[in-house]
Order: sequence, then C-alpha cells, then structure tokens
Amino acid sequence: MVLKQITHLTSIDNLTKEQINFILDKSKQMLNILNSKKTLNICKGKILACLFFEASTRTRLSFEAAMHRLGGNVIGFADASTSSAKKGESLTDTIKTVQNYADIICIRHPLEGSSKLAAKYCKIPIINAGDGGHEHPTQTLMDLFTIMIKKNTISNLKIGLCGDLKFGRTTHSLLQALALFGNEIICISPEELRMPNEIKDKIQNYGGKIFQTENLNEVINKLDILYITRIQKERFISEKEYLRLKGRYILDKKIMSIAPKNLFIMHPLPRVDEINPEIDNDKRCIYFQQAFFGVPVRMAILEIMLKI
Ligand code: NCD
Repeated sequence: MVLKQITHLTSIDNLTKEQINFILDKSKQMLNILNSKKTLNICKGKILACLFFEASTRTRLSFEAAMHRLGGNVIGFADASTSSAKKGESLTDTIKTVQNYADIICIRHPLEGSSKLAAKYCKIPIINAGDGGHEHPTQTLMDLFTIMIKKNTISNLKIGLCGDLKFGRTTHSLLQALALFGNEIICISPEELRMPNEIKDKIQNYGGKIFQTENLNEVINKLDILYITRIQKERFISEKEYLRLKGRYILDKKIMSIAPKNLFIMHPLPRVDEINPEIDNDKRCIYFQQAFFGVPVRMAILEIMLKI
C-alpha cells in the first residue's frame, strides 16, 4: 500500500501527492460509512493517546470521535496542568512513557517542532495536531478534503488565505499542500502578519503561484475559495499589537453581497470576530461542514497510520 511507509505525520511535507490523494480517497470511503450509519470495528483493541498541551475543541474531539467510530479506544489529557508536565516532566519523558500505553499518539503542544522532537523518541506513530505557530497537517488534509468535495478538484484553483498568516499554523501547512497541487494562492494579510519566508521558500520547487496583498476587497472577486483565519492572540508578545491588528478583516452580509456566487468561505475555527454569524446560513459558508470532515479524514489517517 502506498502509505505503508508513513511512520509519523509531523509536517504536511512528510506526504507525497500520491499519499495525500490516497488519504482523500480513504476519507471519502469513511464519509460514506459515517453517512450510512454503519459501525466499524477495524481499530478494535487499538489505543489512541491524545496529548493536548494547548487548548482544542475540534481537533481533539474529532480525533477521539474518529477512533471511537473505528471501534478503538482513547486515552489522554485535554489540559496539560493535570499531567506530569505540571511537575516539570520533559516532553520526551512523557512520550517515552505514553508509547508503552498506546498504539498511536496525537499531540498538540505550544512549542514549534515539538512533534518532530517527540517522533525522534517514539517507537509508535506520532501525529502533529498543532505545534505552536508552525504546522497543523491533519487540518490541511481535512481542508483539502472539503475543497475536493465542494469543487471536485484540489488543483488549478484560486485560493485566498486571509488573516494571521504569520502565526496561523493551519495556513502554513495548507499553503504547502495547495502549492504542491498547482493552485494559485493569494496571501491576504496586514504587512506585520505576512506568511513567513521559510514557508514560502519551502515551496520554491512546487507548482503553485503565490501573490501577496493587504486588500481583501480588491481580490475577493477573483477567488474560488476564501480561507479566513483568526488573529492568533496567544502568539503575540504584546497585547497592544494584537488589539491594533484584530478586526482588520471581517466577513459580513455587505461583503458577501459583492462576493462571487460560487465562492466558498472556509475557516479552521474557532472564529473570534472575522466572520459575522449573520452569514452562517449563506450556502457559500462551509466552515461547519469543514469541521465535520475532521471525523472521516482523521478516521482515514488513523487507519492508514495504524497500518490496518
Ligand atoms: C486551529 C489551530 O488550532 O491552529 N484550530 C483548529 O485546529 N481547528 C485554528 C486556530 O486556532 O485559529
């Protein structure tokens, strides 16, 4: 099988195009199973450990739901202050311990590179569920799946990434995957929150094109997809700087009235003020469906990485 070699998923660049396509195909099968209300027990006897050193709603719960839907079990913590990290235990010691209790680990941690470090010391598969402001590869897989379901392709589209592109880890992973599949990407952000050069440099040899602007209104009419993100308050050193930049982009009825009829609005969630709930019922707003796709996509990832 094409994915047999995937041991850890710490960055989206661990995956080839073929492997991403394979995960998306498997996710479709999982979605069909979920929709038909069938139950699976292919992960019976397997244990997923969810180690969340940072806040989460969707990622943790959809990983847990995915494992339950596959018939497996889940252990872990949602709050690091209840774990031995509170007593000063190092991440690597936690990993060396938990690997003996589970078959696969998914980890969210505030330090960039933490999942890569964890993988170095771990004999079971590690999945990065967000490492600081660095990457969030499984979010990208569900973002790609959402685009595939809605547009029937993940190539040759014009996609706007908007908001906090400096600290927004979902956009760092997504940009790489979109470039790999030959899309045109328009990065829309205040100058202070631009996509980091090291992410842009990584994709030099990929097929996609990148443009940069601060002005959403100027480009919204050209887009197939607008992927908007919140300003990542917790990564700012200065509260004053956060307050100055927050509220820069807000989607509301007014802007939706000039936006293309076939434009889809995506958001990894949680939102703060960048999408007014008054547009939630607009057919173009697909962020809650995107969040639901976390379950089939993570079912596919778990099944593949557990090599079942
Ligand atoms: C994102 C994250 O944690 O990076 N949330 C998520 O996993 N769906 C986005 C965010 O927190 O802004």
